[in-house]
Amino acid sequence: MIMLKSSVALIGFMGTGKTTIGKLLVNELGGEYQFIEMDQLIEDVAGKSIPEIFSQDGEVIFRELESKVCQKVSPLEKVVISCGGGTVLNQKNVENLKKNSTIILLESTIDTILNRILNDGIHERPVINKEDPIEEIKKLFHLRNPLYQSVADIIISTENKDRVVIVNEIIQRLSYHNEE
Ligand code: S3P
Repeated sequence: MIMLKSSVALIGFMGTGKTTIGKLLVNELGGEYQFIEMDQLIEDVAGKSIPEIFSQDGEVIFRELESKVCQKVSPLEKVVISCGGGTVLNQKNVENLKKNSTIILLESTIDTILNRILNDGIHERPVINKEDPIEEIKKLFHLRNPLYQSVADIIISTENKDRVVIVNEIIQRLSYHNEE
């Protein structure tokens, strides 16, 4: 069984594979680790879907719920947390996550992200469900990228890589990181 010195928080833009890779990573780490999907916890707390929170209560309320959930999951041991794409926009969330987790940024190119998001459907993602979603995605991507990079402990490119290769790379990089 693989033992890490910390929990793991996966960050990155929508469509970079945080959920898929997070679940696979937990499988690979073995029985003691648990996968946590922050968006799911937010929906559980609110009793409604993320699009419903945005449309009925607004983004400010969503971000408050996100911060509360982040504060709650941050101290947990042996967890892999899949953060929402906007979680690390709030410095307090970053501070909470950093206490106990290694922060891993999953990176993809804007073209890959556009393909994935447009295939999945934009309705699930209210931050880009605007008049011109493609422009909105591009704008947010360029705005957020420097921030993602500045808070990450480890940066993993997911571009043209098989999921298994990505997970193995994460485990390898975490082992080095934890030795430092
Ligand atoms: C958001 C990303 C979403 C979700 C919410 C807001 C964002 O999570 O938290 O719709 O601001 O980027 P995913 O990155 O898991 O899609």
